[in-house]
Amino acid sequence: MTTHPFLLACHREATPYTPIWLMRQAGRYMAEYRAVRERFGFLELCHHPEAAAEVTVTAVERLGVDAAIIFADILLVLEPLDVGLAFATGDGPTLSRPVRTPDDVRRLRDYDVDDALAYVYAAVRAARAGLGGRVPLIGFAGAPFTLASYLIEGGGSRQYVHTKRFMYEHTGAWHDLLALLARLVNRYLRGQIAAGAEAVQLFDSWVGSLSPDDYRAFVLPHARAALAGLSDLVPVIHFGTDTGGLLALQREAGGDVIGVDWRIDLDAAWERIGHDRAVQGNLDPITLFAPIPEIRRQAQAILTRAARRPGHIFNLGHGILPQTPVDHVRALVEAVHEMSAR
Ligand code: CP3
Repeated sequence: MTTHPFLLACHREATPYTPIWLMRQAGRYMAEYRAVRERFGFLELCHHPEAAAEVTVTAVERLGVDAAIIFADILLVLEPLDVGLAFATGDGPTLSRPVRTPDDVRRLRDYDVDDALAYVYAAVRAARAGLGGRVPLIGFAGAPFTLASYLIEGGGSRQYVHTKRFMYEHTGAWHDLLALLARLVNRYLRGQIAAGAEAVQLFDSWVGSLSPDDYRAFVLPHARAALAGLSDLVPVIHFGTDTGGLLALQREAGGDVIGVDWRIDLDAAWERIGHDRAVQGNLDPITLFAPIPEIRRQAQAILTRAARRPGHIFNLGHGILPQTPVDHVRALVEAVHEMSAR
């Protein structure tokens, strides 16, 4: 029997209050995290299971949130593909050998995920031990489209010109690439679940750049393959941003919980998704820079739109930014617990 509010909400069961956790809840806005980063580079930290687990657990203790998320990165799954992944301080990730041609796709090898990413599974086990059952632990992976966008662009992007051009010009190789990524991701999420992850989130952070027709034709089957069979094991959260026009399609691809960002009202989003799914969201992360009374007002507005319907997990619409005041984050967590208490 599950009693944790977060897991109950994933299953759309009644909870004593609305559970809340925050994407990027362990990150540079937190002094404890910056202290650990003095000792480790970012990738190095991800590769050290005990340190990654410590960062995961500290964030939960500091914030009082209702779920932990394993400290890792969606791009770790690309590292064994030998594409030159690096995190330069301040500029985000870069890949020095991006995928630009069908030949580049053919050169990518279908590596052994359980072997290459065993260090993440070790971090999951260590985090479960450190949490001691206080809150559930979420595992995660990037979705095929979002991972492909980094592979093809060689880093972050605004317009995804290389990605979309590849998709339209080399459609066969595109499908081969996304099928490979879906296989890796499905295997990786199964491994995290076997190691102890009690829910998993698929991050399709940049999929909102696509039209609904392109999502259907070029992405949906691969998102579905990435998630295949996982809902039989643990609750699955399917997240994206700027997805107002894609929510029903994302639901079709899979997920017990659909992530919603702030560019759409939560009640309108839930209507599009269907009330037979749970939802997660949807405060604008920049709201956390506002005075606390404004944060409380906006949190209440979201709770009002959720209308005490079972199956709402409070979160931001996207990750916390590095300059965010920690006391504002704590105030949000307290406000949601207090204002939603039944
Ligand atoms: O949520 C959590 O607390 C768990 C940890 C987590 C990280 N990245 C740690 C991280 C998670 C869930 C991610 C997912 C991730 N990584 C996504 C999807 C979520 C989203 O934001 O849409 C994406 C697109 C990435 C790729 C990535 N990693 C980028 C674009 C960056 C640079 C942005 C930045 O803030 O510097 C990273 C680096 C990264 N991943 C950091 C952290 C804490 C900052 C690294 C540092 O310590 O310098």
